[in-house]
Amino acid sequence: MIVCHCQHITHRDIHAAIDWMRASDRFALITPGKIYRALGKRADCGGCMPLFLATMQENANLAVPADVAQVPAELRNLRM
Ligand code: FES
Repeated sequence: MIVCHCQHITHRDIHAAIDWMRASDRFALITPGKIYRALGKRADCGGCMPLFLATMQENANLAVPADVAQVPAELRNLRM
């Protein structure tokens, strides 16, 4: 299914990019912009963003794994 008509990005392209980014970096925060860049494209009109984000949220690899997302106890009280 085409998600982004301007750049001809399918739901499979989005899932493949997310899976690739998560396999490459467990800590990566995956954003639509990073997916566009991974596919060698850039957003145009932005009209696809609601469907683009919904497609991203279907992927189990989108979130940083829970064991990585936990902040170690010694870092919880640090202030910047
Ligand atoms: S439909 Fe995706 S940028 Fe236009």
